[in-house]
Amino acid sequence: MGGNWKMNTDLAAGVELAEDALAALAAGGLEQSVDVAVFPPFPYLQSVGRALGHSNVLLGGQDCSAEASGAFTGQVSAAMLCDLGARSVIIGHSERRHGLGEDDDLLREKLAIALESGLVAVLCVGETLSQRDDGRAEAVVAAQLRGCFGTLTAEAAMRVVVAYEPVWAIGTGRTASPDDAQAMHASIRGVLGDLYDSAFAARTRVIYGGSVNAKNARAIFDRPDVDGGLIGGASLKADDFVSICRAAAEAWSAT
Ligand code: 13P
Repeated sequence: MGGNWKMNTDLAAGVELAEDALAALAAGGLEQSVDVAVFPPFPYLQSVGRALGHSNVLLGGQDCSAEASGAFTGQVSAAMLCDLGARSVIIGHSERRHGLGEDDDLLREKLAIALESGLVAVLCVGETLSQRDDGRAEAVVAAQLRGCFGTLTAEAAMRVVVAYEPVWAIGTGRTASPDDAQAMHASIRGVLGDLYDSAFAARTRVIYGGSVNAKNARAIFDRPDVDGGLIGGASLKADDFVSICRAAAEAWSAT
């Protein structure tokens, strides 16, 4: 379960959010049953990392540069994230693909350097509303996967989590239906099976993001190919985020 804080919180609120989430996860006995990562804004990584201490909650960056180092004003390298104790990074969030024009060629380079640095990469894919309305959702997502995985070896790609985030569901209050999410997740696994093999496809985590909240989480996580969630708005309230983690734990213990 990932909490993508996006460009939210200030330093004090970010640290408090991490502390509150940690306490609620521990109180709910969820620390061992759900793998949790939080993705604060870059400037707060170190402080939030300190708040997380030696807990099981991973710290992650919201992006990294495709470059290792050098004259790239404003960029943050994968090695810098590692230096601050981050163990994960989001690559290709739709707010970067569509908001900042990042394409699969760039994202493939970012993915490669993130994995080389030892980070767990959360690779986001997802179609726009017009692509879905045109019946091209699965083809668009398949092309994004092929474009980003490129020639990565299965060994390197083992540390990729795929996040299906339909663009029209992000921050809109409109989630994919559990059936639509399941269908896309199964399709994603099919592409991973083609790129690697069925064992790889079965073991890769495919998580859903887009207007997940404490109320709708369980129905989505109940679907067999949904392995978790990438949560935006609802991750900014510790209680909501932990309720979503609990919904996931309950869904999995019921199967
Ligand atoms: P919301 O949960 O706010 O829709 O955001 C989803 C998202 O973009 C997570 O990365």
